[in-house]
Amino acid sequence: MIHTRDTLKINHAGHLEIGGADCVDLAQQFGTPLYVLDEEYIRRMMRVYRDTIAEEYDGNGLVLYASKAFSCKAIYAIAGQENIGVDVVSGGELYTALQAGFPAKKMTLHGNNKLPHEICGALDCGVGMIVIDAHSEADLIEREAASRGIVQDVLIRINPGVEAHTHAYVQTATPDSKFGFSVANGAAEEMTAYVLSKPHLHLKGYHCHIGSQIFEKRSFVLAVEKNLAFMAQMKAKLGFEAEALNMGGGFGIWYAEGDAMIGTDGYAAYLRALLNTVKEGCEKLGLRRPYVYLEPGRSIVGEAGITLYTVGAIKEIPGIRKYIAVDGGMFDNPRYALYQSKYTAVLANRATEAPEELVAIAGKCCESGDLIGLDFELPKARSGDILAVLSTGAYNYSMASNYNRNLIPPVVLVKGGKAEYIVRPQSYEDIVRNDVIPERLRS
Ligand code: LLP
Repeated sequence: MIHTRDTLKINHAGHLEIGGADCVDLAQQFGTPLYVLDEEYIRRMMRVYRDTIAEEYDGNGLVLYASKAFSCKAIYAIAGQENIGVDVVSGGELYTALQAGFPAKKMTLHGNNKLPHEICGALDCGVGMIVIDAHSEADLIEREAASRGIVQDVLIRINPGVEAHTHAYVQTATPDSKFGFSVANGAAEEMTAYVLSKPHLHLKGYHCHIGSQIFEKRSFVLAVEKNLAFMAQMKAKLGFEAEALNMGGGFGIWYAEGDAMIGTDGYAAYLRALLNTVKEGCEKLGLRRPYVYLEPGRSIVGEAGITLYTVGAIKEIPGIRKYIAVDGGMFDNPRYALYQSKYTAVLANRATEAPEELVAIAGKCCESGDLIGLDFELPKARSGDILAVLSTGAYNYSMASNYNRNLIPPVVLVKGGKAEYIVRPQSYEDIVRNDVIPERLRS
């Protein structure tokens, strides 16, 4: 079943339509495979979080779009227009945001192993906040900030030990995690004292992100409660009262049957629950209310995106399975191969036809695990049909590769029926651009 909305529906021609644009027309105009992003959806989600903080928390906070979910210049331009901040996690994301003219002050730099040039780049552009995730990083930021004669605002990433019900690869706050400093074993406290001793680091508070694609409100609330309890401890033990709390991202989205359809009101309710937890917790623990950050990525862009493919080879293995192959695959969407992720697919040119069979959708890479998924209910697909895979806006383009030297598909942004490239198509020249044949191989 399709999770339709005003900007994603079936139109009078019986075709899938997104942002007012007919998907069959989009496929014709731009070719396939093609990523399509619904601008209206993205803006609405950014506003929901921004406005909830304004209404429920006197605007004493900032939404940081977690740009690892989808990064290109246009998304930073949209975030800038919507007056929110962004989270960048590498020199490449930082560079892209700066190239888009995004204000450095509203950026937070993340990463569990930030490289020296990434830290220097962040300091040089005046990044608003750096989230420290290693001792060596504190030393490096201190040294580089001192040499520039500046004091850098920082948070410490803590691991409060919260199990979140999601895929193991996207859980981040379990005892065995490469992220953060554990509260339980004293590392977070030790790090607090360490950072406080550094004259060029201004410790603003803490960051915590428990994982991704999580639906249970309780896990998020628990993480905030544990953060506040830790903040109270640091106040009592070290006399340090945090001014800021970054609550991370991680809200789940709808991919397929079985996933909740949360909607803008639902996401507002998630955030309200977190803000109320902060308010009540501070009251109870005698803490002043911190400035809050929220870092949603997937929930802003995930459901905004679809991928259009053209159906090619069809292979039925009697008694076993039918494979529908498309002109994309794990190079534009590696999430099935990595996490056995579930998706919903629609024949965009025959969107009103009832499903007739259960099929696997395969990619074109030389690898058996190159699938979009195994169980899709579809009408009998024919070569040439346009297949749309839904909810591909997050962690698809941003995780794409040139595996098998396939081209990473372009991205178009649609609004009011108008579609424009925000990432142009790659070419085979792009693929060989950095290749070099050393002289001795040219015989
Ligand atoms: N903040 C931090 C520190 C994060 O590590 C992440 C995601 C986010 C915010 C945003 O989380 P979101 O709201 O998007 O769930 N590649 C995986 C997801 C990895 C998530 C990494 N960190 C996937 O395709 O499911």
